[in-house]
Amino acid sequence: MQIRDIATAPIRGQAPGTSGLRRKTRAYMAPLFLENYVQAILDGTGGAAGKTYVLGGDGRYFNAAAIQIILRILAGNGAARVMVGQGGILSTPAASHLIRKTGADGGFILSASHNPGGIDADFGLKYNMGNGGPATETMTAAIVVASESITRIRMADSADINLDALGAAAIGPMQVQIIDPVTDYLALMEDLFDLDAIAALIAGGFTLRFDAMHAVTGPYARALLVDRCGASPDSVMNAIPLPDFGGGHPDPNPVWAAELMGLMMSPDAPDFGAASDGDGDRNMIVGRGCYVTPSDSLALIADRADLAKGYRRGLAGVARSMPTSGAVDRVAAAKGIACHETPTGWKFFGNLLDTGQITLCGEESAGTGSDHIREKDGLWAVLMWLNIIAVSGQSVADLMAAHWRSYGRNYYSRHDYEDVDSAVATLLMADLRGRLDRLPAQSFAGLRVTAADDFAYTDPVDGSVSTGQGLRLFFEGGARAVLRLSGTGTSGATLRVYLEQLVTDGDLHHDAGDVLAPLAAAVDAIAGISARTGRTAPDVKT
Ligand code: G6P
Ligand code: ZN
Repeated sequence: MQIRDIATAPIRGQAPGTSGLRRKTRAYMAPLFLENYVQAILDGTGGAAGKTYVLGGDGRYFNAAAIQIILRILAGNGAARVMVGQGGILSTPAASHLIRKTGADGGFILSASHNPGGIDADFGLKYNMGNGGPATETMTAAIVVASESITRIRMADSADINLDALGAAAIGPMQVQIIDPVTDYLALMEDLFDLDAIAALIAGGFTLRFDAMHAVTGPYARALLVDRCGASPDSVMNAIPLPDFGGGHPDPNPVWAAELMGLMMSPDAPDFGAASDGDGDRNMIVGRGCYVTPSDSLALIADRADLAKGYRRGLAGVARSMPTSGAVDRVAAAKGIACHETPTGWKFFGNLLDTGQITLCGEESAGTGSDHIREKDGLWAVLMWLNIIAVSGQSVADLMAAHWRSYGRNYYSRHDYEDVDSAVATLLMADLRGRLDRLPAQSFAGLRVTAADDFAYTDPVDGSVSTGQGLRLFFEGGARAVLRLSGTGTSGATLRVYLEQLVTDGDLHHDAGDVLAPLAAAVDAIAGISARTGRTAPDVKT
């Protein structure tokens, strides 16, 4: 095997965002873009010599070609062994599990998550560490430094590997193992959940529909729900992974999973509906006529997880990202366990999970998970819900109604303003940040601000400090709003406005939009969203 040093220079725009480096697919395919970034990852993490890696992606356009390039770079840099999902496929949770199970040094996951795929859409790469979780802030910073001083890419001159043939292959001395992407993940789920109880529930007539959105979870959902638990084959819709996700937007929320939502709100609704995203780490849970917000899902799971065998011993603690609603805080308080509030991004849960301080964690952005891996896990959440339903005998709607009666209801919604001019969005945030001190005691659209701050987080394990993580506005009467700019977009800026109102008594079945309308008006009065952006309504409400 010949190794070539290809001369290169830093390429602008290689700093990762909330979750890896996401760019337009064509940008990734431009000469040396992917190569530079992969080499920078290796240089920033102490080199690849003698190391073992996991490699796979969500099957979007450019997935397989990118895998061949990464394999050549890994071989060129002296890696010992690479485990690749068959056909280049690995969901993010399955990759995280494989890294942990095999003791690999790290993993490359090719995905832009819920962003659309295709040559004119998005591509992404995230590097996960030996604990199976996304690179920490410190490691990410080291990768950025390496990308800014890169001079050469080491690459093996080798032919493509057949990614479809299970078994052993090699590039020079580097072993390449093509593995089934589903088997190990299935075994893990079998350990955590009582799949026989779920199978019995389904055999008893319980119906469900899972929307794989033509993304990576199709094969996983079929193996688990259809083959293992006996659901009918049509229970998994859009089950075939496609390079462009069938032209869709593989984001499991009421807007992008509209077909499933329509079904669940109709008279023909099955008992349970769920969806996952491009790379399989997000989830949406819907009961018959009852959408469960991700924040409520986290709270319900925290309350009832001990019904699943993997969680019978109870929870060490829980964590949520700051914009996620405080519903889980109320469960943690009642159980007398700690509840941590972290910045947006799964990577911030890693240290808490590694040190055993938390068992469960979740985010408003449709992420829920536990210490079984170091990523959020879409199908895990689905099985957790099915396990809770199977053991409790209650429907989704009954479970939520009982939950709200016990803990109160945190009405919640996120309003997204997409593709806003970056300069306008940055100025809006900067202006508001500058006025935060003066807001308390003032009223806007009839709501009085009690406190306001710019969220910062000090990691309790490694002491790293993350500032500027979102502007928080607290109001009289238990309302909270958060404003932050998305860190995952690939064009323009996305302004996210998170609205929450806690109600503890009376009728808890109002429409969230109605309950939150006064808060939305107050935020607009404070931040001038419509005046500055010219938008009269958000593009997406979740
Ligand atoms: C990715 C990360 C999540 C995070 C989300 C937020 O999905 O994996 O941990 O919550 O991005 O994205 P945003 O666009 O709000 O920065
Ligand atoms: Zn994802």
